[in-house]
Amino acid sequence: MTQNPTDTRVAAVVVLAAGGGTRMKSSTSKLLHKVCGQSMLSYAVSAAESLDPEHLVVVVGHAREQVLQHLADIAPEVTTAVQEEQKGTGHAVECGVRDLGDLTGEVVVTYGDVPMLTGETLRGLVDAHRAASAAITVLTAQVPNPTGYGRIIREGDRVSRIVEQKDATPEEAAVTEINSGIYVFDAEVLRHGLANLDTDNAQGELYLTDVITVANREGKLVGAHVIEDLWQTEGVNDRVQLARMNAEMNRRVVEKWMRAGVTVQDPASTWIEQGCDLARDVTILPNTQLQGATSIATGATIGPDTTLRDVEVGEGATIIRTHGELAVVGASATVGPWAQLRPGAQVNSGAQATGFIAVRNATVGSGATIAPLSYIGADVEDGSALQPGAILIDNQTIHVNAQQPGQEAEDNQ
Ligand code: UD1
Ligand code: MG
Repeated sequence: MTQNPTDTRVAAVVVLAAGGGTRMKSSTSKLLHKVCGQSMLSYAVSAAESLDPEHLVVVVGHAREQVLQHLADIAPEVTTAVQEEQKGTGHAVECGVRDLGDLTGEVVVTYGDVPMLTGETLRGLVDAHRAASAAITVLTAQVPNPTGYGRIIREGDRVSRIVEQKDATPEEAAVTEINSGIYVFDAEVLRHGLANLDTDNAQGELYLTDVITVANREGKLVGAHVIEDLWQTEGVNDRVQLARMNAEMNRRVVEKWMRAGVTVQDPASTWIEQGCDLARDVTILPNTQLQGATSIATGATIGPDTTLRDVEVGEGATIIRTHGELAVVGASATVGPWAQLRPGAQVNSGAQATGFIAVRNATVGSGATIAPLSYIGADVEDGSALQPGAILIDNQTIHVNAQQPGQEAEDNQ
């Protein structure tokens, strides 16, 4: 019986992340810039991890301290390899596999700056590679404007070469099938190819793409796996592309939540980061940003004009024109308009905190009412009704009964 090919693990995924990213014009490494709340590199690592490879290597170079620190935070289990000098993609992969010994099986190569690429796509690429018994399979795409990409030169189903923009003849440059830069290699074919690279090209670099030329010379089968979703092959090189990528990723995230039963009145002005969780029958009104690990329970209405970061919102709560961070809002509570929930704020079920108020590191008890222009820095007991302009500080519990102005003076007579 033949083994189900998808049961075998790939030997390694090598994520190339050593490049400079100079066009970002940033003191932060390009790979640490965020798309929908997560670094670009974290997407690349998750996609790679979903293949469950025996080795996962990230090749670092530029801004390496930042990148290594970030990797230690988000994925301490990955292996890193250093490419001291950026001599090209072939050299980068060489650095990535250098310490892995003589691998057998498959080596997948991806980039750290292609955040939309999914694990599913990588799995599809590996499956296609195995189904064709190929030596190398290139993830390719048909694009309207191939400028800047390597062009796929085919002979029928086989890929015979990849030609870089700068090395292409006008006929080659007219080809619209491009190299995504993502591949599966048979490990031995890769090793042999890397050992036979040269820098005889317009950029004087060791091109990974030349491994394909070497393999063809030796009669190996190089195939292509064409992907329709062009976004999955797009890298980010500058802030304009970063904004485009954010908008598209956000569009997909918002659409996912709408399909899961969330009403979003204005998808274009609604920003939901990857780490958020929304229940069915939540309603999101325009200009709302949900960030971090924010979670919204069923029936809650958020917005308009609201930003929540790491806020937990209970069933049926209403949050209007509010800025909240590290806070908890109970079921059926009302917060805002014009409320600030600072870290540690907790507004319990059925409470109301409306009209130019701030709550910081304090609990507003169930059913309590915070009137406009109040600052709540100490706990408020269940059912209390504070008068407008209440300022509670010093972290003590203050119980204020509902009073009409002037009532206290009468009582004292
Ligand atoms: C590369 C491909 C091209 C493909 C394109 C897709 C080669 C020779 N060309 O071109 O066919 O269409 O990607 O985007 O491979 N990197 C390193 N170390 C290096 C050089 C690059 O880690 O020495 C990393 C970069 O950080 C980046 C990736 O490899 O993530 C691609 O490098 P880049 O210089 O952008 O390659 P391209 O010229 O765009
Ligand atoms: Mg590039």
